[in-house]
Amino acid sequence: MSLESAVAVNPMFARPGEAAELERYRMPAESMLPETAYQIVHDEVMLDGNSRLNLATFVGTWMDEHATRLYAEGCDKNMIDKDEYPQTAAIEDRCWKMLAHLWHAPDPLHTIGTSTVGSSEACMLGGLALKRRWQQARRGTGRPADKPNLVMSSAVQVVWEKFCNYWDVEPRFVPISEDHKTLDGHDLAAYVDENTIGVVAILGVTYTGMYEPVKAIAASLDQIQADTGLDIPLHVDGASGAMIAPFLQPGLEWDFRIPRVHSINTSGHKYGLVYPGLGWVVWRTADLLPEDLIFKVSYLGGDMPTFALNFSRPGTQVLLQYYQFLRLGRDGYRAVQRASQEVAQHLARQIGAMDAFELWNDGSDIPVFAWRLKPGYTDKWTLYDLSERLRAKGWQVPAYPMPDDLADMTVQRIVVRNGLGMDLAGALLDDIRDAVAYLDRLEGPLPAERQSGFHH
Ligand SMILES: Cc1ncc(COP(=O)(O)O)c(C=O)c1O
Repeated sequence: MSLESAVAVNPMFARPGEAAELERYRMPAESMLPETAYQIVHDEVMLDGNSRLNLATFVGTWMDEHATRLYAEGCDKNMIDKDEYPQTAAIEDRCWKMLAHLWHAPDPLHTIGTSTVGSSEACMLGGLALKRRWQQARRGTGRPADKPNLVMSSAVQVVWEKFCNYWDVEPRFVPISEDHKTLDGHDLAAYVDENTIGVVAILGVTYTGMYEPVKAIAASLDQIQADTGLDIPLHVDGASGAMIAPFLQPGLEWDFRIPRVHSINTSGHKYGLVYPGLGWVVWRTADLLPEDLIFKVSYLGGDMPTFALNFSRPGTQVLLQYYQFLRLGRDGYRAVQRASQEVAQHLARQIGAMDAFELWNDGSDIPVFAWRLKPGYTDKWTLYDLSERLRAKGWQVPAYPMPDDLADMTVQRIVVRNGLGMDLAGALLDDIRDAVAYLDRLEGPLPAERQSGFHH
């Protein structure tokens, strides 16, 4: 076996009869002891990063030991198998109804929603419902329904580009700028027309963590309706913010309190505080999800609607979400999210006070903020270099370009999640100060910029 194709095994396993070398890309011909296989896998992932120091991802990296126990107990449950696991199905139902209530649906018990594998699937479902309703309305009045478009900020998460690509919808991006840091309703009339299936508003823009003002966007669409008769619905992509705003900004109207909001998605695995693999989507009222997109399965003695892209997937994440809802309650969610926000705002204040940086926002929407190098501070190093230096200490703090029309601007972002406490934040600030001092001391410019990319 060549060295490239072999996995070298820890010498501890080089005893007679045990595998000392393994095929990397072909299934081994022979079996091995489970202990050996376990150790090989265990050792290999030792080289992965430390998830708690990953400040790039929004996705949950910490749950308590009871959750971990539930995870192990429920890992055999298949969410789609509702006949076999009616209680898991009932719990799924309870969870989205709780969300419908939290998001002020007019009749939470009689609307419709579902769990998904993440916000991406949830956004696809929200988008599909918009498209199908638009098509039905168009065909119902004998008008063509072959050129649907969707209007959104240039700072949308990639899922909306995927939605448009996969389902043949024209994406119409409203660029962000220094004056309009998010989609805010200005100039919307220039983007929408009779083929617009909906507008996406993001609660917690991935690039910066800022909320888009859903109410102002809705008001702009109200004006457009008054002027043109076009009645254009909103989907709120609350991947992060839909589990923050109800607790930290309860007075902010962004949800079903606004009649134009047809559907909302969130990621259970982001600020829903569950491990990866869970999203949710809820409609304002059941009639907004066209019947012909829904498949019926009968269980629990009734007819249960299901609407999902995936068939089999783990059911445990739903149990974990229910666990968190019960365990934390509204008070607990408020406390956890507030703690994250305090850390984010503390970090933002400290970073904003450093000579090298200028804040883009301060973590007061979701506990996420971004900053840039102060213009004129240095031409010796960039935020990509800072990102590299921090990675050497184990921190992942991504730097990346902003979307159109700010693509010339590089920012760096921190996502504060449950599990990043004030102590860790203090250590991070020390490492940022050290890294900046190191970069400032370097003679001459560094090699070409490295792109570290950013996580969603
Ligand atoms: C605004 C927004 N929408 C959608 C997504 C996709 O979510 P998921 O990773 O749960 O599929 C993200 C992920 O960061 C996001 O920030």
